[in-house]
Amino acid sequence: MTTTTTTTTTTTTMATTTATTTATTDMTAAADRAGTTDAPTDTLEYTTGCASGYVHGYSEAEARRLGDQANTLAELLHAGTAYPPGSRVLEVGCGVGAQTVHLLGSNPGMHLTAIDVSADSLAQARARVAALAPGAQVDWHHGDLHRLPFVDGSFDHLFVCFVLEHLADPPAALTALHRVLKPGGTITVVEGDHGSAFFHPESAAARATVDHLVRLQTHAGGDSLIGRRLHPLLTEAGFRDVTVRPRTVYADGSRPELVEGFTRRTFVAMVESVRAEALAAGLTTAEAFDRGIADLRRTAGEGGTFHYTFFKASAVRP
Ligand SMILES: C[S@@+](CC[C@H](N)C(=O)[O-])C[C@H]1O[C@@H](n2cnc3c(N)ncnc32)[C@H](O)[C@@H]1O
Repeated sequence: MTTTTTTTTTTTTMATTTATTTATTDMTAAADRAGTTDAPTDTLEYTTGCASGYVHGYSEAEARRLGDQANTLAELLHAGTAYPPGSRVLEVGCGVGAQTVHLLGSNPGMHLTAIDVSADSLAQARARVAALAPGAQVDWHHGDLHRLPFVDGSFDHLFVCFVLEHLADPPAALTALHRVLKPGGTITVVEGDHGSAFFHPESAAARATVDHLVRLQTHAGGDSLIGRRLHPLLTEAGFRDVTVRPRTVYADGSRPELVEGFTRRTFVAMVESVRAEALAAGLTTAEAFDRGIADLRRTAGEGGTFHYTFFKASAVRP
């Protein structure tokens, strides 16, 4: 994706929509709270191509899927993340605000700033917070995490969920984030790893369909197996006291809410969403792809089981 401001042009791997969008950033309020630098411009223009860079795209279905995912996994993923009242927290890549509402709910009193490269997602995030966390104060920023408009050490804590997996250069991203964290501050990173998906009934067709998503994401410059790399990535970026905890989702017939919220609405929906790209790339046929999806759905049916592991890392800026 080509990100254009009036002063610089930066190329990243995140393609978004086919349209050109314009958004005005909210620099003033955040400057008071987080010590921002002067904004390079109050208008950012994102001129984007097709969704070849961002494997999940920015459709309504994806926004719904992100919400289902965050709501279903809130306890699993947010447990242990506690930000004291008054602390300055930056949520990086907030998307449609699916995690934001949970962060706000479990950390009353923190000062939250949220940034995303997609103006459209940011608008949805604002609306979600207004609806689900009325009265919550969030400083919203439209921008690229590689060029954060904040002075060094602006934040006490950073929260990054399902973002690194889409970036071409996660070490560069972590270095950029390291800069805005105060010494002694913490970063929390949550990522999945599609290699951790196993299920019953086993199916070669289902496995091949998941592999198409993995390949497409790699081709787009990302890494859907990044969960297992979090410890070395954070360590090499200069963070210390790095701890990584696997957080496993296991869904079977005794956990119908997980079967619905995770297996069907999060995982199968995610794989299904790349059907057109997989066919266009010549990775598979429509028949084989659909057979894989049907088999994945069987893991959510009677007698089926599904396992997936997320990795939650936390680390300190020395
Ligand atoms: C899979 S979504 C996750 C959204 C949210 N964290 C969640 O868990 O629901 C990834 C988000 O990262 C954002 N993103 C990707 N690259 C970015 C960049 N360079 N700067 C800021 N945001 C970025 C995307 O626009 C997208 O909203």
